[in-house]
Amino acid sequence: MRMRKKPNLIPRMEACAGLWVREPESMRGRWRSLMPEAKRLRLELGCGKGRFTAETAARHPEDLYVALERVPDAMVTAMERCRARGLTNVFFIDGDAAELERYFAPDEVDLLYINFCDPWPSVKHAKRRLTHEDFLRRYRLVLRDGGEVRFKTDNRPLFEWSLFQFPKAGFALSQVTRDLHANGPQGVMTDYEEKFHRMGTPINRCVGTKGPLTDLPLAEGLRRTLEGWTVEELPADGGTALPPRAKAEQLRTLRLRRDGEEACIQVLEGYPRERTAWLLTLAAGEEDRAALAEALCAAVRLGGFTALRLRCPLAEEETHRFWLEQGFADLRPAEDGGAPAVVMERLV
Ligand SMILES: C[S@@+](CC[C@H](N)C(=O)[O-])C[C@H]1O[C@@H](n2cnc3c(N)ncnc32)[C@H](O)[C@@H]1O
Repeated sequence: MRMRKKPNLIPRMEACAGLWVREPESMRGRWRSLMPEAKRLRLELGCGKGRFTAETAARHPEDLYVALERVPDAMVTAMERCRARGLTNVFFIDGDAAELERYFAPDEVDLLYINFCDPWPSVKHAKRRLTHEDFLRRYRLVLRDGGEVRFKTDNRPLFEWSLFQFPKAGFALSQVTRDLHANGPQGVMTDYEEKFHRMGTPINRCVGTKGPLTDLPLAEGLRRTLEGWTVEELPADGGTALPPRAKAEQLRTLRLRRDGEEACIQVLEGYPRERTAWLLTLAAGEEDRAALAEALCAAVRLGGFTALRLRCPLAEEETHRFWLEQGFADLRPAEDGGAPAVVMERLV
C-alpha cells in the first residue's frame, strides 16, 4: 500500500501509547494478561488504517484484539480510530507477519484475519503473499487447533490460488464465496473492501480451520526448496553415532547430488523434543553450505518442526561463525560428556 509520509508521526504514535505494544516479543505467551477475562484472541495481519479493526473490536468487547501492521504511517491512523472510540480491548504491533512466532506463543491465537493482503502478482514473488503455504504453516504455530484464518480479497486470481494453499498447510476450507455482498453488505468492511465494493468489484472470502497437518518428509521438503539438486533418502546403516537418548528411527540420512557434486545431510527428527530437529551432519562443498543450510531450515519447517539445533565444538571457531551467519544462536553448553561444545538453535 503506497501512503504519503504523515507529519508528526512519532508524537501521534506516542499519543496512542496505551494501544501500542512497542515490545511485542515481551508479550509472547502473556497477551491475555492485557485482558484476563477475554474469551478469544483475535489477530489481524496488515490492518492498514484500521476501519475493520476498530469496528470488529467494538462489536466484540468480550475478545482481545491484536492488530499487526508493518507501515507505521497506516497503523497510526488505525490506533487513532480505536482511541477515538474509547476501545480498551485492542492493541497494536508495528511489525511483520513473517515474525509472528516471535510475538505469539503456540496456541495463543484463536482467530486470524487476512484482509486484502498485497497480491504480489508475479510468480517469482508468490512466497510474499500472506496466504502462501509457508505463511499459513507459520500461522499454525501460533493458532490453536480448530482456530480459524478468515481471508478476504478483491483479487480473484489470488483467491483461487489461495484456495490451494490452505489445504496444503492443513487448513480445512469452508464458507467459500466469490461474491460476499451479492445479497447486500455482509459483516464488517475494511477500508479497501468499502472502496472495491463501491466500484462494484465482487469480494471473495473463505475460512480456513486449522486441522491436522500432513507434514512433508524431509527429503520432499528439500526437493521443494532446493533447485537443481536430486535428493535421496538412504536407509539407516546403524553406523552413525547418536547423541544421548536419540533413537535410530529418528535419523534421516539424505544424499544430495548436482552436476557431479555430492552432499550429505543427517538430521534427527523430534530430537531432543517433539517439534525440534537436530542436525548431525552437513557435509557439502564450501560454496554450497550456506544455501543447503537455508534450504534445510525451510524443509524442517515444512516437516512440522519449529526449530533446528546442532552441536558446535568450541574449538571450531570458523564453524561457529558460519552457523551464526546462518541465523543460529548459542542456546547452552553441550552437556554430553564430549569435547567442550555449544548447542546452537535457529527457529524455523
Ligand atoms: C492492501 S492493504 C489492506 C489494508 C487493510 N487490511 C484493508 O483491507 O483495508 C495491505 C496492508 O498489509 C500490510 N502488510 C503487507 N505485508 C505485511 C506484513 N508482512 N506484515 C505486516 N503488514 C503487512 C501493508 O502495509 C498494508 O497496510
